[in-house]
Amino acid sequence: MSTRRVRFDAQKEGSIHVFGLGMRLVTQITLESNYLLQQMERVFHLADGPQISDYLASVECVEVSLRHLYAEGKPREQAYQEIASAILEAALTGAKCGYLTQGNPVFLNTVVFNLRDLAAHHGIPFFVYPGVSSIDTLLTDLFLPIEATGLQLFEATHFVRMRPQIDKRVPLVLFQPAIVEAFDVRYTTGAYTPGVGILQDVLAEMYGFSQEWILLRSAMSTDDSAMVSTGTVSELLEKARHLELGTLIIPGDWTWDPTQLVFSRIAL
Ligand SMILES: C[S@@+](CC[C@H](N)C(=O)[O-])C[C@H]1O[C@@H](n2cnc3c(N)ncnc32)[C@H](O)[C@@H]1O
Repeated sequence: MSTRRVRFDAQKEGSIHVFGLGMRLVTQITLESNYLLQQMERVFHLADGPQISDYLASVECVEVSLRHLYAEGKPREQAYQEIASAILEAALTGAKCGYLTQGNPVFLNTVVFNLRDLAAHHGIPFFVYPGVSSIDTLLTDLFLPIEATGLQLFEATHFVRMRPQIDKRVPLVLFQPAIVEAFDVRYTTGAYTPGVGILQDVLAEMYGFSQEWILLRSAMSTDDSAMVSTGTVSELLEKARHLELGTLIIPGDWTWDPTQLVFSRIAL
């Protein structure tokens, strides 16, 4: 007896494709993503402003903004779940769905992890394509020779909760320092000060109040430039408003000369 596989073309199989947008709006979309995006039947995103819409229109993609689901004051986890569910629903109808999201989509992106789990649960094919992340721009903007310095990276809320064993000689990078222990969507500028206070206490306990930090906000468009500021742990709360969007670096045994873009080891 022979078996025959029957294809039901009418029952088209949906799929989910996640694309990293890079850090500078559309100018860092890779050629790979640019090519594949054009094969999507719908491209979902959360972007504000016209750049993403203009780009998607220029490559003739049907865009779907889910920005309304990321509403001020909503618990972030709920928003992430709703965004992932909206994309899954479209894929379950048989559509080839793209999701275009900031930076590298697998770095600090709960929606993408939720999507991966939902896709696996529903048997929907799932693909992810990398993009330039804030880790890449940090290495580039600071000219950080990580092969020599080493590097320790944490998301700031995880860091204050985990209080990991830190090698104080090695640079420490803390992402999302502005929203430590803040769990609602925030469009307001500045930082969540109770969280900055917690971060300041933990850093003071580990390093002391006179420890220096570097704060980097990499360029976010081609006509923007990187912004770097410095301070000590004792000044973290007072300078909290600068933390917004930035990444905090404790340089460890290294000093950084911003004019020469050189990290050098502190003479012991
Ligand atoms: C939700 S995460 C997004 C990470 C993103 N997926 C990536 O690949 O970089 C946001 C955090 O990334 C870092 N970040 C995002 N944009 C940045 C920028 N322009 N300069 C420095 N750090 C940035 C900050 O630590 C910020 O709190």
